[in-house]
Amino acid sequence: MYKYTHHNNELTIKNVNEIVSLKGWVNKKRNLGGLIFIDLRDRKGITQLVVRPESSQYEIANSVKNEYVIEVTGKVLERESKNKDLKTGEIEIEVEALNIINTAETTPITIAEFDNVSEEVRLKYRYLDLRKPSQQRYLMTRNEITQSIRKTLLNEEYTELETPYLVKSTPEGAKEFLVPSRLYHGEAYALAQSPQIFKQLYMIAGYEKYFQFARCFRDEDGRADRQLEFTQVDIEASFVDQDDVMELTEKVMANMFKDVLKKELPLPIPRMTYAEAFDKYGSDKPDTRFELLIENFTESFKDYSIPIFAEGDVIRGLRLKNDAMFTRKYFDKLTEIVKKNHGKALAYLKNEAGLLAGSIAKFVEGYLLNEGELLILVPGAYEDSTNALGAIRKVIAKDLNMIDESLDNVLWVYDFPLLEFNAEEQRFYAKHHPFTSPKDVEELRNNPKEALAKAYDIVWNGYEVGGGSIRIYLNEVQNLMFETLGFSEAEKLNKFGFFLDALKYGTPPHGGLALGLDRLVMLATKTDNIKDVIAFPKTQSAKDLMMQSPSPADSKQWDDLGLKVIK
Ligand code: AMO
Repeated sequence: MYKYTHHNNELTIKNVNEIVSLKGWVNKKRNLGGLIFIDLRDRKGITQLVVRPESSQYEIANSVKNEYVIEVTGKVLERESKNKDLKTGEIEIEVEALNIINTAETTPITIAEFDNVSEEVRLKYRYLDLRKPSQQRYLMTRNEITQSIRKTLLNEEYTELETPYLVKSTPEGAKEFLVPSRLYHGEAYALAQSPQIFKQLYMIAGYEKYFQFARCFRDEDGRADRQLEFTQVDIEASFVDQDDVMELTEKVMANMFKDVLKKELPLPIPRMTYAEAFDKYGSDKPDTRFELLIENFTESFKDYSIPIFAEGDVIRGLRLKNDAMFTRKYFDKLTEIVKKNHGKALAYLKNEAGLLAGSIAKFVEGYLLNEGELLILVPGAYEDSTNALGAIRKVIAKDLNMIDESLDNVLWVYDFPLLEFNAEEQRFYAKHHPFTSPKDVEELRNNPKEALAKAYDIVWNGYEVGGGSIRIYLNEVQNLMFETLGFSEAEKLNKFGFFLDALKYGTPPHGGLALGLDRLVMLATKTDNIKDVIAFPKTQSAKDLMMQSPSPADSKQWDDLGLKVIK
């Protein structure tokens, strides 16, 4: 055991004249006119060491380089010039003994915040990147959040239990990773997308209150808030309804705010129906930190004939104060975004010093618009227009600096549609997952398009940080759900026979939710890149640049699995 008396964030003026031992990495060494200063770093902070030319340790101190691992013993002195930005900035250690525990080659990235190194290089040398104070803060916060959540759930008598990662392939939504079986050629496991079925089986098995920090695997395209493998705080309880799950989640969130962010999260968390969220914000995860709501303009343009507005279109839009930012080029950028989000077209209208201007000005002579006002309009079907406006709403808010980044707005979105109809395939998909209970079974039976779900998402500053539902617990309702989703009898039995069986043996009503741990940490640390809060992440293009994976497997490995690679 390497002995040390203090961490590098601890010593203050109160320790002056004490003899102390420290260890850590050389953060920086400076030789100032004979005096050697070393900033010694450990996971807690930095302490300055000083070695004078007359010291017996001078030569060895002069030989250390950045990132060497050393241990020192010395006397705490009051500094002549104090550093207010450093916790230990009032003192320094006059080194009496210095031992080099290990050397370090010149690192490919400097262990400083701003080193202009590309993300590729940072990820290739991730273990060095992780030495940075900002990275340490992300991961230490991650640990604090994990511990806070665990504490709350254990206090509420939830039991921490595991579930398998190698499971059966089941259509649940996201694309799965397949793991070919060596023993049964042509057969495969799937990596669990979530513990969903297993946590329900725990309820059937009588465990009543379960939670787990579960790794989930989804073969999805990368995004700034998505990874192929990520962690859920997975929760399930028996004999609960929607309000119970929401109340428990609110406790978890409020304690996390208190323990980690040292902030109060006002309870109860406000609730908004999906219909309202979509109508006003064009999103099922509305960012409510700024007021810029989608409005209806169909009525007010009905008497004009405007070429890009077709018969039957709804006309929805955003009303803003005109701004120098709104140039033609900017509207081109918005039009691109509108089109990417299923919108048909974008039109705009301004009142500039009493005169109407903008792409549809010449068609709407006499339209009343306040001076300095700007309308951005998207015509089309209600869903498409609203969706597109939701997308540009966020972009405009960001570009106009409308978002107060110090705010933390958390809300529930609930009363989701149960199903989504895919017009191309002429079939329904479950909006959440196929185990989610309808609010009204008769509605599912008779009018599935309109059926609502007992499902809820928790949204923080425009990010979905969690989602869950009350589950179907009656075998016949689960059968009806699978039938509505278009599964044949054979498919149903093949994919979910075991589960339909389980539902026959005394299943309690149950429900739960899963929080995305990585996203919680992102929001808590105010980064917008999920990779920051994951120690060893994959890139947007699904690669681990440090291990260089995925990597080719050798032919023996493929043979063992009974597989052949087709190039
Ligand atoms: P869902 O699929 O909504 O629900 O996932 C729950 C939460 O997990 C987070 N999340 C992700 N985080 C990072 N990368 C991803 N690829 C990713 N996908 C999801 C989100 C999301 O809100 N079994 C259900 C939960 C339940 O019904 O209890 C489920 O998995 O924050």
